[in-house]
Amino acid sequence: MSLEAIRYQRGQLEILNQLLLPTQSVYEEIRGVEDGWNAIKLMKVRGAPAIAIVASLSVAVELVQHSFTSKDELLQFVGKAYERLLTARKTAVNVYKASESVRSYLSSLQDDVMEIKEKLLTFLEKMLTDDVADNKAIGDFGAKWITDNANKDKVQVLTHCNTGSLATAGYGTALGIIRSLHENGTLSSVYCTETRPYNQGARLTAYELVYENIPSTLICDSMAAVLMKERGIDAVIVGADRVAANGDTANKIGTYQLAIAAKYHGVAFIIAAPVTSIDFSCPSGDHIKVEERPAEEMLCFRGERVAAESIGCWNPAFDVTPADLISVIVTDRGAYKPAEIHKLQ
Ligand code: MRU
Repeated sequence: MSLEAIRYQRGQLEILNQLLLPTQSVYEEIRGVEDGWNAIKLMKVRGAPAIAIVASLSVAVELVQHSFTSKDELLQFVGKAYERLLTARKTAVNVYKASESVRSYLSSLQDDVMEIKEKLLTFLEKMLTDDVADNKAIGDFGAKWITDNANKDKVQVLTHCNTGSLATAGYGTALGIIRSLHENGTLSSVYCTETRPYNQGARLTAYELVYENIPSTLICDSMAAVLMKERGIDAVIVGADRVAANGDTANKIGTYQLAIAAKYHGVAFIIAAPVTSIDFSCPSGDHIKVEERPAEEMLCFRGERVAAESIGCWNPAFDVTPADLISVIVTDRGAYKPAEIHKLQ
């Protein structure tokens, strides 16, 4: 069975606290919007699709506890809930898209308020199942693109941050492609970066790869260029928090330097993301707001200070990779060159 970051049944939501992995597997109950906001802000749950799903399901669990006398009251409740949830982390676009789709779905409903609530719950719950199906499609499209372009039976790839079952409802995006390659027998092995400063690669991706018995090796972020030079990497595969309309892509800090190193070494650079990660209202990467995280996440390890006292700290959580460094963007609707993603609108 694959790892479950999110456990849900109507009225009950639990998330695996990712801050405790890999040493402890502890599920925490999310009783409503405020718990959801906290879990996202503190990064107990993280990854663009998982943020959107947990936010939406936290609205669902609170909806179950309330009764509403009119559609307007329900609309107001949902509007306020998402308004709050959108402030937790600002770079990933998926939660904004979820909020828009929920509001427009709600406005289209004409039934009585009890039926509207029932339909809304089903709509929110469907996000969990849809995400797994989208990730499997990304996995298949991406594995095919890589094997078609690699001209060899087995490939070796590099990934960054965590884009697997822990960052989604299941299967994963970039890690979904790696999973598909492995299932098809076309993966020789995968390298994953530690992903400093918060170690999502060392803590989470390494854990998932070992859990799934996928041949894998951990490297420090600073080893990526020499890895490409000396160990024959066929593709770098990463996820996305927000893809701008021109294909510029915001993803975990360190992605941009991997793309530069990949270009230099002639290695394919692949973004794997559902269409819901594309922000067609954002013309280019210059317009993407990058979240800055607390200094402690860089200066301390598990509460213990590892950097010299009084040193300054700059801790952007993401960077933007320009479209011209990206070979292809693999979505749930197929693989597209960055200049072609407008076809997905
Ligand atoms: O800060 P995080 O851990 O939420 O960052 C996660 C990433 O950057 C992922 O690559 C991205 O959200 C895609 S997850 C499928």
